[in-house]
Amino acid sequence: MTVSEIRQKYLEFFHARGHVVVPSVSLVPQNDPTTLFTGSGMQPMLPYFLGTPHPLGTRITDSQKAFRSQDIEEVGDNRHTTFFEMLGNWSFGDYFKDEQIPWMFQFLTQELKLDVSKLYISCYKGNDELGIPRDTHSAGLWQGLFGEYGLETKIGEDPERDGMRTGERIFYYGDKKNWWSRAGAPQNMPEGEPGGPDTEMFYDFGTPHDVQFGAVCHVNCDCGRFVEIGNNVFMEYVKKGAKFEKLPKPNVDFGGGLERLAAAVLGKGDVFLIDTMQVLIIELAAVSGKQYDNAQYQKSFRIVADHARAATFMLGDGVIPGNTDQGYVLRRLIRRAIRHLDTLGVGEGTLIKLSERVIAAYKDQYHELDAAHVGIQDALREEEQQFRKTLLVGMKEFEKVAARGGTIEAPAIFNLYTTYGFPIEMTEELAKERGLQISSGATVARLVQEHQEKSRSGAAQKFAGGLADHAEQTIRYHTAHHLLLKALQMVLGPEVHQRGSNITSERLRIDFSSPGKMTKEQIAEVEKIVNTKIAESIDVIRTDMKKDEAEKLGAEHEFGATYPDTVSIYSVGPLNSPFSIEFCGGPHVKNTKELGEGGKKFIIKKEEAVAAGIRRIKAVLE
Ligand code: ALA
Repeated sequence: MTVSEIRQKYLEFFHARGHVVVPSVSLVPQNDPTTLFTGSGMQPMLPYFLGTPHPLGTRITDSQKAFRSQDIEEVGDNRHTTFFEMLGNWSFGDYFKDEQIPWMFQFLTQELKLDVSKLYISCYKGNDELGIPRDTHSAGLWQGLFGEYGLETKIGEDPERDGMRTGERIFYYGDKKNWWSRAGAPQNMPEGEPGGPDTEMFYDFGTPHDVQFGAVCHVNCDCGRFVEIGNNVFMEYVKKGAKFEKLPKPNVDFGGGLERLAAAVLGKGDVFLIDTMQVLIIELAAVSGKQYDNAQYQKSFRIVADHARAATFMLGDGVIPGNTDQGYVLRRLIRRAIRHLDTLGVGEGTLIKLSERVIAAYKDQYHELDAAHVGIQDALREEEQQFRKTLLVGMKEFEKVAARGGTIEAPAIFNLYTTYGFPIEMTEELAKERGLQISSGATVARLVQEHQEKSRSGAAQKFAGGLADHAEQTIRYHTAHHLLLKALQMVLGPEVHQRGSNITSERLRIDFSSPGKMTKEQIAEVEKIVNTKIAESIDVIRTDMKKDEAEKLGAEHEFGATYPDTVSIYSVGPLNSPFSIEFCGGPHVKNTKELGEGGKKFIIKKEEAVAAGIRRIKAVLE
C-alpha cells in the first residue's frame, strides 16, 4: 500500500461514517499568532472545539500538512521528521469514545490489516489534584476489542519503572504522556485553552531494546522499538483559572502520522523507507555513491531527505528564507541539509533535484506544490549559493582559530555557530581532521542551551501574549488587517494580493505582492481610508456559503489556503455592498468602531521589501 493509498483509505473510511473531507490548510497559520507553523490537524479547528459551529457540520476529516520545529534535532532516527502529514478526524460535540475507539481499531486492523498482536495502547491515569478521573472507559473499550481476537490484554501501570509484564497491552501514563493540549500537560495550559485525556496507539517493530534509553523498555520508551501511530484526544476540558471545567460538549480530536502508519503497514521500522521518502533516499544514494545502510551516513541521508521535503512544502506555502520567524526556520533547514549533503560528498544543485522528487510524489494531493514549482527552485538555488558564500567566510574564521593551535575553546566554537552559522558538529569534524583538540562538549552544550533557552522563552512569551491575555487586541488587529488589504488595493491597484500575514496582540503584519516601494502619499492615503472605515462604525458579518458563490461575490482568498465546498466569509459591511470581503475563518470584532476604542488610530509603522515583488507592512492601532 502506498502513502497515497493509505491517505485515501483513511479519508474514505471516515467519509463513509458521516465525515466531510476538507483540504489541508497552509503550513503557515493565517490567523493564529501563537505559533509559527501548523503543527497538528486540530490547530485550524480550534474555534469549533470551543463552540463555534463548523460550516460543514459536526464530523470533519482531513490530511493536514504539519511541521514541528522542536523535532529538528531528533531527525536522524527511524521515526522523527519535521514535516509530516497528519491524518485527522473530528467530532465537534458529536460522537465520543464509544465510536472513536472501535473505529480506530477497525481501521488499523481491517483496512490497513496491521497485525493486532503488534498493537499497544496507552491511556490517561488521571490526576486527583486536578479532579480529572482515570480513563477506565477507554481502557475497557480497547480491552474488549483485543479480546475479540482472543489476545490476552492486561492493563499495566508505571511501565517506565516496572517494564511491560507478560500479557500487558494497555498502559496507564500520567499528565506528560496522556494528556493533550496545544500547550502540553494540563499544568502548562493557559486560561481558555481546551485539552483533555488521550489514548495513543503504538506499533511494535520488535527491534531490541537499547539500554541507553532506560533500564526497561515500554511503549513510550525512546529506543525506537515502539512507534506511536496515532492519538485519540478526548477534548472535553477547558482551563479556567487554576481549575478545569467541562466544555459545553465533549469533542474528539484524532491525529495520526501518515508516515508512521505507512511504515507500520510496510512492516519496516523506518519512516524513510515508505515510498514517498524512499525516492529521496534512492536519489541521494545515486548521486553520492554511498549506501543508506552504512551507519556512517544513514543520519545524513535522513536529515537531507527530511529537510528537503519540509523546505519544499514551506516554499510551496509562500515562506521566504530569512532571519526571522518562519523564514529563519526555513533557512536553518536548507543550511542543515546542505551541510549533510557535504557529508555525503554531494555538490551544488542536489537540493533542487530532491525537491523535484518531493513535488512529483505529493502534487496530486497538494496542488500548491506544482503551482509554486519554479519559485521553489529559484529560492533553493539562491539560498544555497548564499549559504555557500557564508561557509567560505566562516572557513576563514575557522582557519584563524585553528592557526592558534592547541585546543579550540568553547567561546570560539559558539561564535562560529552563532555568527557564521557553522554547525557545532562541523567545527568538531574539522578540528578532528586537523588533529586539533576541542574544548569539552559540555561547555559548548551549555552555551548553546542558554542560547536556545533565550529563544524558547521568546516563543513562550509569544504563546501567552497572543492567546491568553490580549486575545481581544489580536482580534482587532485581524479586522484591521482586512481593512488594510482592501485599502491597499484601492490605492495601489486591484492586482495587490496578500502573500503572508502574521498578527500578534502588539501589531499586524502583512506581506503583499506589489512592484515597488510605496510613496509617503500612498501610505498616508491607505491610513486615511482605514481610519475612515473605523470611524464609520461598520458591522463585520460572517456568512457561510458555497465556495463558488463566495468566488462570484469576489471574496478575497486567504493566501496559501485551499477551500472546502462550503466556506465562511467575513464582510465589512453588508454582503450586497461590502467595503471588504474575504474568505476567512475569523474571529473578528462585531463592528469596526471597536478598533478605534480609546481614541486609537491606525498607523503604518513600516513599509519595506521582503523579496522580489513582495512588500511588507507593519501597522498598529495607537
Ligand atoms: N492533536 C493531537 C496531536 O497532535 C491529535 O497529537
